[in-house]
Amino acid sequence: TTPPMVENGSPSEITLDEFEDLAALSKNNDSTVSITVVGASGDLAKKKIFPALFALYYEDCLPKHFTIFGYARSKMTDAELRNMVSKTLTCRIDKRENCSEKMEEFLERCFYHSGQYDSEGHFIDLDKKLKQHEGSRVSNRLFYLSIPPNIFLDVVKCASKSASSVNGWTRVIVEKPFGRDSESSAALTRGLKQYLVEDQIFRIDHYLGKELVENLSVLRFSNLVFEPLWSRQYIRNVQLIFSEDFGTEGRGGYFDGYGIIRDIMQNHLLQILALFAMETPISLEAEDIRNEKVKVLRSMKPLQLEDVVIGQYKSHTKGGTTYPGYIDDKTVPKDSVTPTFAAAALFINNARWDGVPFLMKAGKALHTKRAEIRVQFRHVPGNLYKGSFGTDLDRATNELVIRVQPDEAIYLKINNKIPGLGMRLDRSNLNLHYAARYSKEIPDAYERLLLDAIEGERRLFIRSDELDAAWSLFTPLLKELEEKRIAPELYPYGSRGPVGAHYLAAKYNVRWG
Ligand code: NDP
Ligand code: BG6
Repeated sequence: TTPPMVENGSPSEITLDEFEDLAALSKNNDSTVSITVVGASGDLAKKKIFPALFALYYEDCLPKHFTIFGYARSKMTDAELRNMVSKTLTCRIDKRENCSEKMEEFLERCFYHSGQYDSEGHFIDLDKKLKQHEGSRVSNRLFYLSIPPNIFLDVVKCASKSASSVNGWTRVIVEKPFGRDSESSAALTRGLKQYLVEDQIFRIDHYLGKELVENLSVLRFSNLVFEPLWSRQYIRNVQLIFSEDFGTEGRGGYFDGYGIIRDIMQNHLLQILALFAMETPISLEAEDIRNEKVKVLRSMKPLQLEDVVIGQYKSHTKGGTTYPGYIDDKTVPKDSVTPTFAAAALFINNARWDGVPFLMKAGKALHTKRAEIRVQFRHVPGNLYKGSFGTDLDRATNELVIRVQPDEAIYLKINNKIPGLGMRLDRSNLNLHYAARYSKEIPDAYERLLLDAIEGERRLFIRSDELDAAWSLFTPLLKELEEKRIAPELYPYGSRGPVGAHYLAAKYNVRWG
């Protein structure tokens, strides 16, 4: 629980006693949470935020008293918002009881307020409406900034001055991108901190809310068999792979200003890397985990251009269908050199990971959709069974695969004897396949993260020093790529990406999994 913002827009100064009273009050059963989705008419709000809020409601995870407000410039009535939202709500697959009834109940708690993003007057009107719903209860307020980043500060300024809670907490979830480089990110952080204290800012990276990313620490720290192997002594390389089988269709305008390195690598993949490589935290408290992650990020070797390959997809015709190239999108300049694919070799300069390549690969319009962490172990020294696999000696190494999506799984590739006479070896999977093991549907990442923000749990959100460290790693590379206008290697839509990625991996004696 954090101090509420005050009228003049700077974080309030209150005594510890007052603060503790407020904290106790806001935990009170008689408190209410008002969630304002700013940019409610947009794609993310419809696709992810409202469905996640409904799923939380369906699972009885939202507080007893809550209200949801959509806020955007588009003119809409409450009924029109409800109609829009209802189209994307679904019930959990394992229990569909009372689904339509629950949807109706949920929609009745959803309202809409149309306003400009930079108008204090319009936020005062919102505040009045929120108060009508909150009544005399302690009011806690969550603002979700689901809007383009250039208007984040306008909204934070207006919301903090005119619509922050006077007797409970006020929190703001900020969507990525958090700037384009170190400078713009620092400017955004400075701007936010004019109106909010760090504890009120929840920078979301939805990959941290994915079930298998959450499970990464459990796998490592609760199983004796993994942690002793988690170092340069036994691990040959680690691969972090993100691939989508569709292009930037419809988002070309946004994407061209950012590119795949900022869209996926600097945040989603780097966050996974930090969690994967961190030392054991003192506890599972947010600050203990974030302290360990930031140490990893700060220990990383500066990224060299020769350790990076970039690509851009081009049009491709298959089975009579023509798939458009990146620059065929009308919102993308014809001479764009923005990468839609990138592969990079990163290194952590610490005792645990010295010399181990962490290979990242992220791309749009590839042949498959998947996100995976692949850990390739070293060869068994003095392998007794060399030759028993046939000619492919590489097959003898173990590999641990954490398939984040789709079809979540964790499997370990091991060597075993093929049953029968003689000594021929095979490779098999010890497989934890989530769909086979658990019947319950895995919650969407946004559900977990929204719930955490409501509960004030910061573990899965990005702290400002983590963000600084992440940008410090990528900014010099991005500047060099952009200043030199380095041309990306073209790859056909639906292919495996540029061949350069394979040469990069081969340079470190790695084969992509
Ligand atoms: P949209 O482009 O759909 O924008 C959301 C709303 O913001 C729009 O409905 C519009 O509402 C308003 N808006 C759009 N452009 C402007 C503008 N130039 N000036 C003022 N208002 C504008 O964005 P998304 O919903 O796709 O994404 C929201 C945020 O989430 C962005 O920061 C995005 O980068 C991030 N994000 C999105 C993802 C996605 O899958 N869509 C994934 C991860 C992050 P109105 O006109 O009614 O005011
Ligand atoms: C977003 C990126 O952060 O993540 C998108 O901006 C990408 O480009 C998306 O498509 C992928 O998320 P998910 O959860 O569908 O893998």
